[in-house]
Amino acid sequence: MSTVVITGSNRGIGLALATVYAERGDTVYACCRAPSKAVELLALAKKHAVTVVALDVGDDKSVATLAKRLESSVVDTLINNAGVSGGPPEEQTATNMDFAAWADAFNINALGPVRVMQALLPALKRSRSAKVMSVTSQLGAISLDMAFALGYSASKAALNKFMRLAASELKSHGVAVGVIHPGWVKTDMGGPGASITPSESAAGIANVIDQLSLQNTGGFWKWNGSRHDW
Ligand SMILES: NC(=O)c1ccc[n+]([C@@H]2O[C@H](COP(=O)([O-])OP(=O)(O)OC[C@H]3O[C@@H](n4cnc5c(N)ncnc54)[C@H](OP(=O)(O)O)[C@@H]3O)[C@@H](O)[C@H]2O)c1
Repeated sequence: MSTVVITGSNRGIGLALATVYAERGDTVYACCRAPSKAVELLALAKKHAVTVVALDVGDDKSVATLAKRLESSVVDTLINNAGVSGGPPEEQTATNMDFAAWADAFNINALGPVRVMQALLPALKRSRSAKVMSVTSQLGAISLDMAFALGYSASKAALNKFMRLAASELKSHGVAVGVIHPGWVKTDMGGPGASITPSESAAGIANVIDQLSLQNTGGFWKWNGSRHDW
């Protein structure tokens, strides 16, 4: 059994991830911005070893509060899942950019995972098999020329680059690091026309995390287990 911290776990892929780990019997710290409104998560917490915790990944104080709460705990796996789209795609193009929305997306999508990872590092280092997996997007791959939501794409590219470099630095601390494209998923962000369900995505992500180790640290995967080009 392991202890798993999941950000943005009140809906979408995060809720499905919380469900996968809870049903496995793991101890889950299910983080979300507004616990009192997280109806499905609170229902999950009644049946399993799930603790619902307040966390805004864009806010230093909120992250520090989580770190304080877990300061004497062991965290085996951190899943940085929380993310935002950065606003309508037509307002994040080469010719029309909502800079405030872009800055917000950067803060949440790129800085947020680093903020949470650094804050939980003492708890991760206590694990014998520490793992940090960040949910990115194929749109963050430099190799993919898909001109859609440029601000969002750039925020995920920044996340990818940081985590790839962080992997080599954190290897000596015993922490394995990866990024994963969750697929095109039927959530508020992915929309109803997406190709897979949150449960399918979460099951795939959990399988990839099971395989993540210090031997393959620094990788970019797809939810189905195959490697993603950078
Ligand atoms: N769906 C897809 O097709 C797809 C494809 C590629 C990548 N992704 C990535 O997958 C991850 C999950 O996306 P999703 O599809 O499940 O999206 P979603 O349904 O829109 O859920 C996003 C989650 O992130 C949380 N969140 C947003 N800002 C936050 C903040 N500042 N602090 C903490 N939590 C915050 C949301 O909480 P609130 O309810 O409080 O807003 C919500 O729980 C994201 O990183 C996304 O970029 C999704």
